[in-house]
Amino acid sequence: MPDQQKVVTIERHIIEGERAHPGATGHFSGLLRDLTLAFKVIWREVSKAGLVDILGAAGQTNVSGDDVKKLDVYADEVIYKAMDHGGHLCVMASEENEDVLHIPDQYPTGRYALLYDPLDGSSNIDANVNIGTIFSIYRRISPSGKGRLEDCLQSGYKQVAAGYVIYGSSTMLVYTTGDGVHGFTLDPSIGEFLLSHEDIRIPKRGKIYSANEGNFHRWDENLKKYVQYLHEEDKNTNRPYSQRYIGSMVADVHRTLLYGGIFMYPADKKNPEGKLRLMYECNPMAFIIEQAGGRASNGKQRILDIQPSTLHQHTPLFIGSEEDVALAEEFIQGKR
Ligand code: AHG
Ligand code: MN
Ligand code: MN
Repeated sequence: MPDQQKVVTIERHIIEGERAHPGATGHFSGLLRDLTLAFKVIWREVSKAGLVDILGAAGQTNVSGDDVKKLDVYADEVIYKAMDHGGHLCVMASEENEDVLHIPDQYPTGRYALLYDPLDGSSNIDANVNIGTIFSIYRRISPSGKGRLEDCLQSGYKQVAAGYVIYGSSTMLVYTTGDGVHGFTLDPSIGEFLLSHEDIRIPKRGKIYSANEGNFHRWDENLKKYVQYLHEEDKNTNRPYSQRYIGSMVADVHRTLLYGGIFMYPADKKNPEGKLRLMYECNPMAFIIEQAGGRASNGKQRILDIQPSTLHQHTPLFIGSEEDVALAEEFIQGKR
């Protein structure tokens, strides 16, 4: 059969990837398979979000008399329940929960830790704008039994896998296990994620910048200079850059991955450590963008090298094309 007719489901991709690594036990493919089921359940609910007026809004009861949950709380529970019993994980952590989430006593524990942002860009839900889910996976470092906080609090360079799902005009899953970045598009008619973007590479330089520029007057002078530089006209360096900002990190980073350029959420006077979270927003995106040939930094240090101290800590983020992020770092460090 000619090769272009080969249909690669995410499951096949994961299993074939694992086969290529001698010593693989299949645990990892089982884990990712369980996760994709959770994503499909979330997608089903997200695609009904416009029906809240008919079915009932969060905090009310729907026509069947069930309580309707906020979508991010719903997504949080879907992922936890899809992942609590497979025997692959020793512990989880999510944006929606202050402390780590333990595996219930009646289920076996496994060798990985999962961190996730169940619904990213949740302020965009009611406007039918793209939202997403982000995940990050580490190998456990505690010896056995129930996992602990230390299994979650590892530097980003130790991630064994990371990915996101973007619920958009089509729904895509993008992930890496340290062997390039691969994108799958959900075919809703068969309920499968099919390989559509193999080995994604981010352009070395782009012509789009993405930031909430409403915060301009809260930024420090070096950062203002950088953004003003992007505004200036200069044919040789393709300036001015275009500005795009969705306000869903998943969607803004996804566009940056495909088109190049830079996405940033800097520190400002109101958020001195930035707004985005290191463990389940910045680290997984940094792993993906680096795997695609890009760069991710807090302005001074590589995101993946940051030693975390708390589960929900914030970090400034500059992420995207290698040359764009390197230039932003030069400005921020006062070298330009
Ligand atoms: P979440 O919906 O998970 O809380 O994340 C929202 C984040 C992120 O998606 C986005 O980049 C950022 O908030 C937008 O912040 P501003 O509204 O301050 O621009
Ligand atoms: Mn988020
Ligand atoms: Mn969220």
